[in-house]
Amino acid sequence: MAKAKRKKVTKTKKDIEPRIITFACNWCSYAGADLAGVSRMQYPPTSRIIRVMCSGRIIPTFILDALTNGADGVIVSGCHFEDCHYISGSKKAEKMIESTKKLMHLLGMDERRLRFELISAAEGAKFAAVAKEFTEEIKNLMKKKHG
Ligand code: FES
Repeated sequence: MAKAKRKKVTKTKKDIEPRIITFACNWCSYAGADLAGVSRMQYPPTSRIIRVMCSGRIIPTFILDALTNGADGVIVSGCHFEDCHYISGSKKAEKMIESTKKLMHLLGMDERRLRFELISAAEGAKFAAVAKEFTEEIKNLMKKKHG
């Protein structure tokens, strides 16, 4: 199987616009993001959304791969615990996030670069607010890192 070539991403001091990968579950969070879009809610264009069927599908490798290949931050977003279409996916994701943060710590990465959110299909405003807040948080981390 051929491996995709990855472009090395380097940032300058001026290049402070964060790159954020958002893994959003199909049933709730992606629909929430869609609602934010169709409702014309303003949020920064820093996020690239990757739709997955359930947040329980996300494994640490996806997150670490994103963070080591140019993403400044990662959001994993799923349904509220009682609404997960696969029963316990978002609960599983929460545990996975905890262990991934521990891994990040061991690897010398700032754990604040990873965030877990529960966003329903009706919470477009929450999606927009999380995107704004996380972008600011990541910008501050980048400023501290680059001086
Ligand atoms: S289906 Fe949305 S988190 Fe499981």
